[in-house]
Amino acid sequence: MKALLCTEFGPAEKLIFKEINAPEPKENEVLIKVAACSANFPDTLIIENKYQFKPELPFSPGGEVAGVILKIGENVKKLSIGQRVFALCGWGGFSEEVCVGADRVFPLPDYMDFVTGASLMYNFGTSYHALKNRAHLQKGETLLVLGAAGGVGLAAVELGKLMGANIIAAASTDEKLAICKEKGADFLVNYEKEDLREKIKEYTRGKGIDVVYDPVGDKYAEPTLRSMAWNGRYLVVGFAGGEIPKLPFNLALLKGCSVLGVFWGQFSKLQPKENFENILELANWFKEGKLKPHIFKKYSLPDSAQALVDLRERKVVGKAVVICDEKLTNVPITKIIEPEKSKRIYQNLEEIKASVGKIIGESPWLEISQDIIDGFAKATFDEQWIHVNPEKAALSPFGSTIAHGLLTLSLSPKFMFDIYEVKNSKMGINYGSDKVRFLQPIKVNSKVKMVAKLLEATEAPNNGLKMKIEGTYFVENNPKPVCVAELLSVIY
Ligand SMILES: NC(=O)c1ccc[n+]([C@@H]2O[C@H](COP(=O)([O-])OP(=O)(O)OC[C@H]3O[C@@H](n4cnc5c(N)ncnc54)[C@H](OP(=O)(O)O)[C@@H]3O)[C@@H](O)[C@H]2O)c1
Repeated sequence: MKALLCTEFGPAEKLIFKEINAPEPKENEVLIKVAACSANFPDTLIIENKYQFKPELPFSPGGEVAGVILKIGENVKKLSIGQRVFALCGWGGFSEEVCVGADRVFPLPDYMDFVTGASLMYNFGTSYHALKNRAHLQKGETLLVLGAAGGVGLAAVELGKLMGANIIAAASTDEKLAICKEKGADFLVNYEKEDLREKIKEYTRGKGIDVVYDPVGDKYAEPTLRSMAWNGRYLVVGFAGGEIPKLPFNLALLKGCSVLGVFWGQFSKLQPKENFENILELANWFKEGKLKPHIFKKYSLPDSAQALVDLRERKVVGKAVVICDEKLTNVPITKIIEPEKSKRIYQNLEEIKASVGKIIGESPWLEISQDIIDGFAKATFDEQWIHVNPEKAALSPFGSTIAHGLLTLSLSPKFMFDIYEVKNSKMGINYGSDKVRFLQPIKVNSKVKMVAKLLEATEAPNNGLKMKIEGTYFVENNPKPVCVAELLSVIY
């Protein structure tokens, strides 16, 4: 296979594109056929031996890939050959194939293409963790993003807007700032030409910044810290500017502000459940079209060193992505998306657990015709006139026939099938219900739907998952539910 190799530490110009032996996965690893690999700032450091992780020479840079699993190690249980995945591999991605520890590999949702899969999590995962878990950014607060057109910076602009903040984007050129504006920035500062502190004062009417997102450090850090609002939060994300700033502690005291470290890699290892929740929220926002990584340029694998040169020279806006397999990245994704648009797709049983306590979706409307009621009456021998005799039922208080309560309940498996699907599962059984309440009659020709909330998801024998789902049934044009039931399923 071919790869871009670092054979001696130094700038990107020293990287060599050459043929090497394909790697073999160890027992806890998978081998991925790489479709796309994005370039991130640490790639520019790792090849110069300036990063915290120091792989042995020779190695290939590229820490974030998407592709298809070719082989799996013998201890890997939750991933399978042929599965579409994205992975945070650290290095090794600028190549046709890469081995990655299974715990750093995640199923790629069917609605997501490989280029997005290789571009989303590092930037958006970092920025969402910073804004949500560290700064607890609130609606209406002011967020200043330094290096706002860079990878993590632009993601912070997009996410901050989505979270309801007022965004001040700061970057070095007007062209970069124009893209920040497209992504939702309310105010712009060109910090190479304008006085950062003066602009902050003007934009916040002297109040100062509530939350600062700083991936640059260097000379911008101190003036920014001096511009904090009371109770402000300063997020230390990175030092792309070069110098690690040394700040006077008294500023934190005088401003009553907090300086908060952000280390997404460590967060994902030490708090995997919270990280997984973030990933699901980000994937759903992407699915809903609420966020989209900005792709600066696509590079071919033989030309992938140029992506690192462009990053180093501050040319990249958003993401630079290397296409490692054009055949894979050219597969149109829309065909897969359409039929599943309204369905919640879980890639595996683990993903389901993150939905406990949440609404997982609602079914489309289903009209209950007299034919459906008659069929149910026949199957259950319950042929009471209120269900099957329209003339007589017209004189009843309901004015028409009504569906059997148990008919509504028996639609649950169909509705659940409409609402969610678990990929890579062998089978699912809907085996019962609890605490059913029929609250209102359903007249013939009414449209019914079910809203599903996941109440519990617990381990079942033989690697299964037992789910308790609260199904709430509504008829059209009536906000009150007609039936509520706790539905029991097990999935393997
Ligand atoms: N803490 C974490 O968990 C975490 C996670 C991911 C990344 N990071 C760190 O965040 C920083 C940014 O990463 P990124 O992937 O967003 O990088 P990037 O895409 O290269 O963006 C960095 C931005 O910094 C600005 N910059 C200012 N001086 C620079 C210089 N001398 N060289 C390069 N850029 C300079 C540039 O914007 P202007 O030209 O507009 O100034 C550039 O757009 C890095 O230090 C990275 O290690 C930290």
